[in-house]
Amino acid sequence: MTYQTILTERRDSVLLIRLNRPEALNALNSTVAQELIAVTAEADADDSIGCLVLTGSEKAFAAGADIKEMQPLTFQDVAVTDKFSEWSLFTNRRKPIIAAVSGFALGGGCELAMMCDFILASDTAKFGQPEIKLGTIPGMGGSQRLTRFVGKSKAMDMVLTGRMMDAAEAERCGLVSRVFPAVDLVEEAVKVATVVAGMSQPVAAMAKEAVNRAFETTLAEGLLVERRLFHSTFALEDRSEGMAAFVARRPADFKNR
Ligand code: HXC
Repeated sequence: MTYQTILTERRDSVLLIRLNRPEALNALNSTVAQELIAVTAEADADDSIGCLVLTGSEKAFAAGADIKEMQPLTFQDVAVTDKFSEWSLFTNRRKPIIAAVSGFALGGGCELAMMCDFILASDTAKFGQPEIKLGTIPGMGGSQRLTRFVGKSKAMDMVLTGRMMDAAEAERCGLVSRVFPAVDLVEEAVKVATVVAGMSQPVAAMAKEAVNRAFETTLAEGLLVERRLFHSTFALEDRSEGMAAFVARRPADFKNR
């Protein structure tokens, strides 16, 4: 399939997706949304892909939802179409998706990074939820996911002032998992994704599902889901192989990677 707003590149078992609207700092218009939903669906169905990396340019991961596209919309337009609800298709993907963020990740851009499974950032990354300056509020999960990532005080600070957070602050408060020099970010992200892609695919999907439950449910319910998923790994050949390899002091050779 050919895309207008994204570029894709295979690196062995990793699919690298680059947002590609340089004229608009990768602002997320409806075509970007459709294409990201489509490309991740294809990747989910492709056994040769073990992990995805989503990145932008060095200047901007994404500077938000496309303000020029949103500007003429009325309440009826956004309410009747339940605007932005389609992103749940992206967040329901089974394969791990890593965000590699350099430059601006603002508004919908910050929200898209948080929809991925974890965020790697360059030392130039800047995160923010500036919607309040446009007379609106986050609409792709910013008020909910940012609060779960960084806690109420910092989320409220970001959402009410619209200020930006740099990479060091984002790492300190747990929004990003690791920071790399900007020139190395994409290659480092591909290396991390290659590690993930080297694991058993069904087990990685279960691990992703288990961690995501922590966002969705109570501790008791989440612990039960985790245990049941853990029990399920005992039905897999890859679990037998992983433990047998450890005992025999050799690397695991997972069949389903
Ligand atoms: C559409 C955008 C855009 C956006 C930048 N551009 N951000 N177009 N939507 N979100 C366009 C600019 O209009 C300009 O095109 C080109 O990209 C370069 O941007 P500049 O502003 O000239 O670049 P710079 O001076 O370097 O400033 C970078 C910036 C600034 C600080 C990131 O562009 C900015 O503040 N952007 C908006 C950030 C924002 O408010 N994001 C939240 C969006 S709302 P032209 O053709 O004009 O030169 C959102 C809502 C989510 O995400 C859901 C709730 C509704």
